[in-house]
Amino acid sequence: MKIFKALKIFTAVVFFLTLPFLAQASPLDQVSEKDVRALLSKMTLDEKIGQMTQVDHKSLKDINDIEKYHLGSLLSGGDSDPNGGNSLKEWSEMVDRFQRRALKTRLKIPLLYGIDAVHGHNNVMGAVVFPHNIGMGCTRNSQLIKKAAEVTAEEVRATGINWTFAPMVGVPRDKRWGRTYEGFGESPEIARTLGPAAVSGFQGSDLAAKTSVLACAKHFIGDGGTTWGTGKPAIAGNAAGLDQGDVRVTEAALREIQLPGFAAAVEAGVGSIMPSFSSLNGSKCSGDKHLLTDLLKGELGFKGFLISDWAAINDLPGDYKNQIEQAITAGLDMVMVPDKYPAFYTQLKELVEQKRIPLSRINDAVTRILRVKFAMGLMQKNYRPFSDQSLQKRFGSLAHRQVALQAVRESQVLLKNNNKTLPLSKGLKRIVVAGANADNMGNQTGGWTVSWQGKSDDITKGGTTLLNAIKDTVAKTTEVTFSLDGTEAKGADAGIVIVGETPYAEMFGDRDDLHLSEADVKAVQTVKALGIPVVVVIVSGRPMILDQILDKTDAIVAAWLPGTEGQGVADVLFGNFHPTGKLSVSWPRSMKQVSINVGDVAYDPLYAYGFGLTY
Ligand code: BGC
Ligand code: BGC
Repeated sequence: MKIFKALKIFTAVVFFLTLPFLAQASPLDQVSEKDVRALLSKMTLDEKIGQMTQVDHKSLKDINDIEKYHLGSLLSGGDSDPNGGNSLKEWSEMVDRFQRRALKTRLKIPLLYGIDAVHGHNNVMGAVVFPHNIGMGCTRNSQLIKKAAEVTAEEVRATGINWTFAPMVGVPRDKRWGRTYEGFGESPEIARTLGPAAVSGFQGSDLAAKTSVLACAKHFIGDGGTTWGTGKPAIAGNAAGLDQGDVRVTEAALREIQLPGFAAAVEAGVGSIMPSFSSLNGSKCSGDKHLLTDLLKGELGFKGFLISDWAAINDLPGDYKNQIEQAITAGLDMVMVPDKYPAFYTQLKELVEQKRIPLSRINDAVTRILRVKFAMGLMQKNYRPFSDQSLQKRFGSLAHRQVALQAVRESQVLLKNNNKTLPLSKGLKRIVVAGANADNMGNQTGGWTVSWQGKSDDITKGGTTLLNAIKDTVAKTTEVTFSLDGTEAKGADAGIVIVGETPYAEMFGDRDDLHLSEADVKAVQTVKALGIPVVVVIVSGRPMILDQILDKTDAIVAAWLPGTEGQGVADVLFGNFHPTGKLSVSWPRSMKQVSINVGDVAYDPLYAYGFGLTY
């Protein structure tokens, strides 16, 4: 009971601290509707349909198709790097090239270029990579989350890109979901308080500023509430998990858990929202008029535009034309096609000509898109929608890394600390480091880093692995030795075993077993057998089942997916930063408890939501 009381007070404080984000006037309210109407009235039906079309640049057959199809938007999905390579230069030259082409069209409307900058500008080599949101949630620090979004926005704008598909404000309720780490935590309070902080960091106090990007709250609604076994298998024939699945609750229950994050994002002026791949009681969100039009645009008063998820309309019933009809009628304003844009264009046009979709719906969709483009300053006279050299100097900079470093420190959650094992002394004679995630940049950054699913090993430039951070932190006289499996540890004074998950992202990350790998368990056992204090650091996108190692550890730190700035983890291990992180999720004891959430009846997790020690 005490914990609930503490939670209530805590929530009230967090809410109070977040009020400035909520109070901020929406940039969409400041747009002159007269200007929007004037531009709309000049547009042909073809030009309107073009504004509603988003194409992945990899599927753009000819750059002149920007004019031919009057395209309003392009994106880079996961793994959709510039053809010439993944560098700051390649990215900015590519996006500039597309914008130059757009400026040569009749109406000269700049493109929106979208990307998943979900923990920093993570697709781009050398970008600062922040902790994934589950760790950011443990900081409970909305100012810091805002700052992180500001840094991300600067790095995004450095490449000429002006739109991020973030923040994720859905609430992951089942830890088996491979997107658990993309959410700030399992409670609606966390989404409601931290989501708007991210929105205001991305969009800035002026959406038209050169350091602002358009934000996108996703995935509306219920992405994190799906039922196991209803998901869409990543590989045909595989067993179904949770991702893109069906939410089987009453609308009232859905609203209670999954709506607050979106309502707060709308209040903070978010310019775009992405409907979810998932369904509500069998009805796909992407084609659900009640959810998209009545609830989001009507009840919540959302004035921005809706962008579909990746080819999401292709999952609606019927042939492609029926799918387009249902989605646009339901309220989608822009479709992430992302490939077959000639078919989309032709068929949407036919639907309007055949009066299956009223022109008023098209006008509404385009008005919403233009409203956002006006708010972003794209329609100002002589606006240059290009990458900014002055921002490129700050890309991946030390100043940006300092913000990420602070986020790593504050996201660490100290779960166990017997006999004051932590902080470790920096002056020990010898420390042994072990485990598969100790010296692996790819594993500590996780999915959505440089590549879509992420990858182990040296995947980017800059940053520090946890092992190197430990070496940098201890005294010169301290010997740090490393072996993956914990052998060759004899004679050490303390052991740090860094275990956890390897990278995954949507579709491929659902797991019905969250135990540590056999190798991880063995490494812990091997080091413990030496009779020295053992600190286990868990690098993972979600809580893991610890029953096999719990009694073989003296201290445990949940490091989540900290990103490039591994120093923040070492700072907590050696006392440079006294831990403040509080769990943003409940930590289950066993797989039986895996969908446990704060507020459940008979709530008895291993570590409760909000838990976190300090020293
Ligand atoms: C994901 C979205 C993402 C989009 C674009 C989809 O598969 O669900 O979160 O924004 O792809 O990459
Ligand atoms: C993802 C994209 C990715 C694509 C690869 C989609 O589901 O959202 O980001 O590029 O799959 O096929």
